[in-house]
Amino acid sequence: MQSISFERAASFYDATRGYMPGSAERIRDAIVAQTGATVHTRLLELGIGTGRIAVPFLTAGFSYAGIDLAPAMLAALVAKANSWPRLPLLVRGDVGQLPFTDGSFDVILAVHVLHLVADWRATLHEARRVLRPHGAHLLLAKDVGAGELPEVPLEALAPPMLAQRVWKRTLKDLGLTGKEGQPGTSPQDPAVRELLEGLGATVTTLDLAEYEREPLSAREVVQGYSQRLYSADWAREAALHHAAVAQIEQWLATECPEPDRPFPRKGSFRVVLATWA
Ligand SMILES: C[S@@+](CC[C@H](N)C(=O)[O-])C[C@H]1O[C@@H](n2cnc3c(N)ncnc32)[C@H](O)[C@@H]1O
Repeated sequence: MQSISFERAASFYDATRGYMPGSAERIRDAIVAQTGATVHTRLLELGIGTGRIAVPFLTAGFSYAGIDLAPAMLAALVAKANSWPRLPLLVRGDVGQLPFTDGSFDVILAVHVLHLVADWRATLHEARRVLRPHGAHLLLAKDVGAGELPEVPLEALAPPMLAQRVWKRTLKDLGLTGKEGQPGTSPQDPAVRELLEGLGATVTTLDLAEYEREPLSAREVVQGYSQRLYSADWAREAALHHAAVAQIEQWLATECPEPDRPFPRKGSFRVVLATWA
């Protein structure tokens, strides 16, 4: 499998994945509190994208580097530059072969990236190589919304989150689940922990901060699936994708409660933290 570049997503990434004001700053503050980072800490973000995570660090004057495969995502980040005390070091490249010397960074972040890379093991080995030997942190993070938590029952989900759950179920019923469940597709996979512990890290999982996204209706969520806004839907053959969309549209028309009412979308910024003391 090749890595999944977000070149095609640059124009709609922030509108569909962005946080409400305050959330990204809360995430930054929680990362800083957890790692003890200061403006002298050398931070690197793997798959930095449009800077959803990076911008609050840059605004606060942190030393920040980022690498991404997609020039259009990096260009969207550069377009946000706004009297940042320090400019970030931005590189177009592959996280499986980091163009940095050993021990160049103190803290590495990778947010919603591991499931996209061609070789997650190589990525973790590279992250370890470019981190300093001691006193280093690697944070593998993702946003976890209520719709993605299997322990939250269907009855407890607001319609947009219910739509997420129904989409998952529809894809599963049609045998279209892709990479889901394979090792390395989530920071919380036991295989990821095993590899990091094998590299000498102490590994913990933390819900570091709460985030909030723009309110959406169930219909808007379904439109997002139909328009293939999310990378899990990009490679699917057109006829199969249309079949899945037809099923969820049927659910929207016949079963979904309040399909046009927007609901706030809250979740948790979940981190697998590897620390080398
Ligand atoms: C889902 S986005 C996350 C962006 C950012 N971390 C955030 O949380 O908003 C994933 C990013 O990783 C990049 N990416 C995927 N595979 C990569 C690889 N092998 N090397 C570098 N970047 C990669 C994509 O181009 C995309 O910009």
